[in-house]
Order: sequence, then C-alpha cells, then structure tokens
Amino acid sequence: MSLTDDRLAKMNMRPDRSFPVPSDDELPAGPRWPALVQSAALMRFRHSFIPALQRRYGDVFALRLVPERRPLVLFHGAEVTKQIFAGNPELFHAGKGNAVLGPIMGQHSLLLVDGADHKRARKLLMPAFRQSAMAGYEEVVTRIAKDEVASWPRGEEFRSLERMNAVTLEVILRVVFGVADEERLARLRPLVNATVDIKPLILLGWGYPFLQRFGPWKRVVEVQRQLDELLYAEIAERRRAGDLHERTDVLSQLLVVGDSEGEEPLSDAELRDQLVTLLLAGHETTASGLSWALYEIGRDEALLARAQEAADTGDDDYLEAVMKESLRLHPIIPMVVRFLMRPATVGGVDLPAGISVGPSILLSHQDPEHFPEPDRFRPERFLDGNPAPNTWIPFGGGVRRCIGAGFSLMEGVVVLREVLTAYDVKVLPGHDDKPRVRNITSVPDKGARIVVSPRG
Ligand code: HEM
Repeated sequence: MSLTDDRLAKMNMRPDRSFPVPSDDELPAGPRWPALVQSAALMRFRHSFIPALQRRYGDVFALRLVPERRPLVLFHGAEVTKQIFAGNPELFHAGKGNAVLGPIMGQHSLLLVDGADHKRARKLLMPAFRQSAMAGYEEVVTRIAKDEVASWPRGEEFRSLERMNAVTLEVILRVVFGVADEERLARLRPLVNATVDIKPLILLGWGYPFLQRFGPWKRVVEVQRQLDELLYAEIAERRRAGDLHERTDVLSQLLVVGDSEGEEPLSDAELRDQLVTLLLAGHETTASGLSWALYEIGRDEALLARAQEAADTGDDDYLEAVMKESLRLHPIIPMVVRFLMRPATVGGVDLPAGISVGPSILLSHQDPEHFPEPDRFRPERFLDGNPAPNTWIPFGGGVRRCIGAGFSLMEGVVVLREVLTAYDVKVLPGHDDKPRVRNITSVPDKGARIVVSPRG
C-alpha cells in the first residue's frame, strides 16, 4: 500500500454520529426547507441568502444542512464573534467542520486537527508565518509578480482572476514548497492545478470509497498519487540538503523547526499534509482578493491615481489598505465555523452539542455601524484607525485565525505594487462583476476582467 492509499484509507468521511441531531425546538428559528435545498442555497446563493435570513430572523438563525440535517447556527455581532473566537478550543472545535477536505489535505492538516494535535502543528508551523519571516519571502514574490505582469497583453481585456491564480500558484510552489528545479516545477504545475480544482461532486463522492475506481474520482486519486510522489521526493531531497538553515522557503523552515520549538519534528506524512493544506488554503483565496482589488481600482480613476502614487512612493500601508478593503467588501470565505463539543450558551442562546456555530463574515463586513457606506470601496477606512475589534474578520480569529493572513497581505502588496507601477488599469463600462462560489471560495463571477495599458 502506498502512502497515498494509506492516507485515503484512513480518512473517515462518514458524518460523526456520536452526537444526536438536535430537534427544532432546541434551536433558534430558521428556514424550514429541506436540508438539501438549504445547503444548495448556502453554497450557491450565499451572498443574497444570508442577508435575507438576517432580515427575516435577526442576528441569529439556524440552518439545516446535509448530511443528516445537522444544524449550523449563524450569528452576527462583535460580542458574540469575540466569544466564539476566544472560546475554549476544546469546546469549540474547528477541524470537524472542514472534514470534507480530509481526503485531499490529509489527516494531519492544520485545518482538520483539534486539541493537542492542533496546538503542536500550529506551534511548528507558526515560525514560518511570523511577521519577521515575511521579508525573506518578499524578494521571490516580487520576481514572480514582475515576470507575470510583464507578460500581460496590453489594451486587450483579460480575466485578472486567472492571472492572479497563476501568480499565487507560482508563489506557493517557489516560496512555500521552495521548489527551484525547473523540470520538477513543470511536472508539479498541472498536478497542483488539478488538486486545487475541487468540484462539489468530487467532494461528495469521497463519502463512497468504491467510487475511487471510476471516472473523475479515479482521476483525482491518480493526480493525488503523482503529486504525493513529487512532494515526498522534494521532502526527501530537502532533508539531505546541507544549507537548510540558509534557505528562506516555508518547507525548509518546517524541516528545521522541531528542534528549536522543543517539539517532535514533523514527519514526512505530516509535512506532505501541511504543504497540500497551504496550497489549498492559500492559493485561490489570495488570488480572488487580489483580482477584486484590481477590479475596484479599474472602476475608479481617483482610486487608481492614489494607488499608483502609493506604489511609486513605496507607501505600502495604502496598498495594504486596498487589499484589506477588498477582503472586507468581497469576503472570500463567508463565515467562520466551530463545532460545539458540549452544550453551551453562545451569544446568550442555549445551544445543544453536535451543531456548528459561527459568525457570518458577510454580515459583519456589511454592518453600517462599523463600516459606514458599506457598499463603497474605501481603503481609507483602514488608515484612519482600525475597525472595531471582531468586525473585520476575513481571516477568522482566535487560535484558529488564518496562519497565512500576513503572508497573503504581503503578497497582495507586492503584486499590486508591480501592477500599478507598470500599468493603468481599467474595467470597461458595463463589465460589472459579482461574486460566485467556486470550490470553497467566493470569486468574481466573470473573472474580474480588466484592460491594462503602459503608464504614460
Ligand atoms: C486572502 C487570503 C486568505 C483568506 C481570506 C483566508 C481565510 C481563512 C479563514 C477564514 C480561515 C479560518 C479561520 C478560523 O477558523 O478562525 C483560514 C485558515 C487557514 N488559512 Fe487562510 N486565508 C487566506 C490566505 C491564506 C494563505 C496565504 C495561507 C498559507 C499560505 C493560508 C493558510 C491557512 C491555514 C493553514 C488555515 C488553518 C489555520 C488553523 O486552523 O489553525 N491562508 N484562512
């Protein structure tokens, strides 16, 4: 049995039946439609569905989702958001909610583990994502962004999302995995592309292992096998490298980190799972945030001029504010989810164990009390002082806050700087975009189409 087969065999996709499914009278009010319809509405139409539920039920409501009609209780409000983020991680589990990604990310994935396993993995991964580590990554990200931007067609409309996906993927391969060998990069690119394209049908199919012998599921298993082979080869070679301490990529840092943190170092299987997790969590999220930023800049000449000035003068704070405002107005992930391991009172509501709870990022970012004129794109919000705590939450919060938050903001600033020093950016009249759910993230439906021309 190969490591891939072993990993797939160990993944248990069956729903957790150790908790009974609560009845309606144990929950806040919510829609009564079949769970499949509610799940589909949440997946497909979350941008209109969730605000509609708030209008109907207020700042707390319960959804019923497949499988089993398991409830998800969504909240809105800074106080309850704080309570959930700061809550005891033994009570508020995060890993369970992401179990559907298990067969791809693997059982050791930071996103999937809870309790002591999470604490250890987080401790080992954290040094590579500290603010002080970012400077080491910036040079390679800048080189990747420069090459990408130089290749853009001028005066011709294109989908910025596709180009941003290409940039962020290259960043993961070179800066996170630290692969430098061109031949290996060429073999990795199609495999990571296929891995990040997780269709809902594929995800649902994981619950039925016999499907892995057929059609699209069989192909996914084959891609996984080939990707794992390359990753394990890379890890083995890197372990033998004599210059690990001088290397600045994430994988090299993860290989040396155990000793200094006083923890058992990460095994090959753990490293593989964390690399795939970073790939899936860090690639399309950042690409979508960046393409929305370019879209907003392309629709507003004054904003373009201000952002170009910031790029020219090295005003990174302004470019970071553009990226933050992009993540506010166009949240990539709609909510943060925790699984209740015991009955608890959340936001003043008594809730049973065995349900998911979480703050709605969408509702929080649209709250006019904290973000006046919430539909306007205004980076200045992040310069005239910070938003109130627990209101700007694109990266979640607490012990599970996105480990790549600083990384994605650094990447965003570098890419915006390279685009804006080179080009004027425009969105053609009538080419408005709106969010659509792809894989697990919200992306611009039409790919945030822009036209660029060299600056005069
Ligand atoms: C704009 C870009 C990004 C957005 C909007 C985003 C959003 C999120 C959110 C909402 C969570 C869940 C937080 C919670 O449960 O409280 C998360 C977790 C995570 N993200 Fe990100 N993310 C982004 C970029 C990245 C990048 C660049 C990486 C790595 C290279 C990354 C790696 C992770 C990991 C490993 C976790 C799990 C953390 C844990 O459970 O301890 N993300 N992210």
